[in-house]
Amino acid sequence: MSVTVVIGAQWGDEAKGKFVDLFSQQAELTARFNGGDNAGHTVVNPYGTFKLRLTPNGFANPATACIIGPGVVVNLATLLSEMETIRQAGIALDERLWVSPRCHVVMPYHPRIEAIYERAKGKASTGTTGRGMGPVYADKVSYNGIRLADLFDEGAFAARLRIQLELKNALLRAYNEDALDFLSVYEEKLAQFARLRHVVREPFGLLQAALRRGAPIVLEGAQGALLDNDWGTYPFCTASTTLAGGAAAGLGIAPRWIDQVVGVAKAYTTRVGAGPMPTELNDATGEAIRQAGAEFGTVTGRPRRCGWFDADLVRFTAALNGCTALALTKLDVLDGLPRLKVGVGYCPGDGSPARYWQGDARWLAGCQPEYIELDGWQQSTSHARAWRDLPRLAQAYVRKVEELVEVPVGWVSVGPDRDATIPVPPL
Ligand code: IMP
Repeated sequence: MSVTVVIGAQWGDEAKGKFVDLFSQQAELTARFNGGDNAGHTVVNPYGTFKLRLTPNGFANPATACIIGPGVVVNLATLLSEMETIRQAGIALDERLWVSPRCHVVMPYHPRIEAIYERAKGKASTGTTGRGMGPVYADKVSYNGIRLADLFDEGAFAARLRIQLELKNALLRAYNEDALDFLSVYEEKLAQFARLRHVVREPFGLLQAALRRGAPIVLEGAQGALLDNDWGTYPFCTASTTLAGGAAAGLGIAPRWIDQVVGVAKAYTTRVGAGPMPTELNDATGEAIRQAGAEFGTVTGRPRRCGWFDADLVRFTAALNGCTALALTKLDVLDGLPRLKVGVGYCPGDGSPARYWQGDARWLAGCQPEYIELDGWQQSTSHARAWRDLPRLAQAYVRKVEELVEVPVGWVSVGPDRDATIPVPPL
């Protein structure tokens, strides 16, 4: 297995967590490299069902170290509550958890500033998860961030916090919001930090030693490639790098170590938040997919927008990430549909065929998708456990995805449990 990166090949929520959990059974290390507690993974394993946002999904394997790399931003309250949930499930994690001191900390002003931005943009708002991601990453790149390392030194933390509160409170007051009190923020953060400082230690040495040994490592991307800050549908995207390449920078691993990139994609498309989604279905079929797939956000509970599989988008993200295989999830959600469509490209209005990467979000919003149609299999696949158990038409659907995306499908998933994962034989 060596070094495998698992990334979302659509707009997030592709059930990456399930594959990270599965691959981490053999991994010595699993590591998160981007995002923060805007991510939400639901993972079902023998200990129960977990809804996690920050902790790498190897947490359930006692032989796996779990790393949160410098590319991740940390909300201390979220991390503490996850550590507690995992402890209560009877899993010993603290010894195996390494959180880089280079990680930036989400401070109480970040979600509040985000709310001001979102309100100011009105209809043009991004529809964020409200976890302060834009402002915390903005502070990071503009040298205004507070990192976990700063919390080891109370004096240095106090000095930084005073400056930031002066700046941030001016903005809050300008928008008629209550200012934040220095002492309560200072004490709250130090108290939270005291409860997890034992896991704040730089994982670089551990990772490098594991790489040199050829140890199996799983790198876990959050969100999806189409939410990437550079390549996603900006400004309807997230604040970090969601691509396989981000694993290198976000963890301090040279790109040459990465052997496999697994792109996880749903057998259809979903999106939460605003922004273009060419194959969206605002009709009874979209609603049927939402209900069958329980498509409601893990972090916000918002109904997800649902639509047909968009092969052009996934071909693009597969190329962007260098996917060596796809994991196609939630195939069973399509079980009841008599006919299925797959988006194969766009027509921007002038009749000429076009590709996602040729334009921006505004351009994409004006594009009409072109479809091919396939027969649905109309029988349950949720009990299938081998390729031969899948109806012929379901197999044909998977093969069509493979052909259009130009990447082999390595696995099909037909349910949340680990064993509801079917290896796909090569063509
Ligand atoms: P933010 O990451 O909270 O700033 O939100 C920016 C955009 O990314 C919004 O459209 C969110 O709905 C979307 N987003 C962020 N995290 C996730 C995720 O884990 N799954 C799906 N969408 C996400």
